[in-house]
Amino acid sequence: MQIVVLTGAGVSAESGLGTFRDQEGLWTRYDLNVVATPEGFASNPEQVWEFYGARRRNLLDAKPNAAHFALGRLQRALGARLTLVTQNIDDLHEQGGATDVVHMHGELLQSLCAACDHRFPDRESFGPDRACPACGQSGCLRPDVVWFGEMPYQLDRIYSALDKASLFVAIGTSGAVYPAAGFVQMAMAQGIETMELNLEPSDNARLFKQRRYGPASEVIPVWVEEVLRTGAFGLDV
Ligand code: OAD
Repeated sequence: MQIVVLTGAGVSAESGLGTFRDQEGLWTRYDLNVVATPEGFASNPEQVWEFYGARRRNLLDAKPNAAHFALGRLQRALGARLTLVTQNIDDLHEQGGATDVVHMHGELLQSLCAACDHRFPDRESFGPDRACPACGQSGCLRPDVVWFGEMPYQLDRIYSALDKASLFVAIGTSGAVYPAAGFVQMAMAQGIETMELNLEPSDNARLFKQRRYGPASEVIPVWVEEVLRTGAFGLDV
């Protein structure tokens, strides 16, 4: 059997990284049109780099929590039978032991050269004037994250995994941003099992056959233990 797990900001909340839409969430404090769109970047790259620089600094201080470790354990146990897709741009799944993470919204600790498409690991917190290490051009670097209005990464791989899946699980995501918010509808259309694990019911809660609520650091380890011990929904994993 194949499982597709989709994670969102809720899985990293207890690691001290802010969510987007909760009270005090990032999008209640920052205008996403300014800091998370190609247009915002074109008109004020310094401001956008400041925003992502602050997020890089936060991430460098953050540690994975019990939910990341449990999902890492699940991936090491299931190998290719688990496709772990995240909307998160942090690397806490990897730090928690996951071996193959599909970062559909990009990676915060990576930069991308808009001139030559070179991607490279980058922990600097400011970047507009730096030169690209590959082509040498200045003023073309951006954080390697997907902004509103841009195409998420690796959608072909995600859709192909969903096509083959027997179970789709959404963890710590509000179900507010497409295309990720639409994965549960695809799963429903295929008639496969679906499960939501979240702090509270998400916008899409009624679309899931199974729902469990509570902090990710408590709910996820219990679910992973169950899957490893008894399978999921009686399905052999
Ligand atoms: P949101 O901030 O929209 O939703 C976070 C979800 O996590 C909410 O449903 C919370 O209830 C839940 N949550 C909060 N704390 C939790 C905890 N300790 N345990 C479990 N769940 C918890 O974040 P996302 O759904 O990830 O995209 O947002 C999706 C996308 O919107 C992001 O990838 C980002 C954002 O704009 C881009 O920037 C392109």
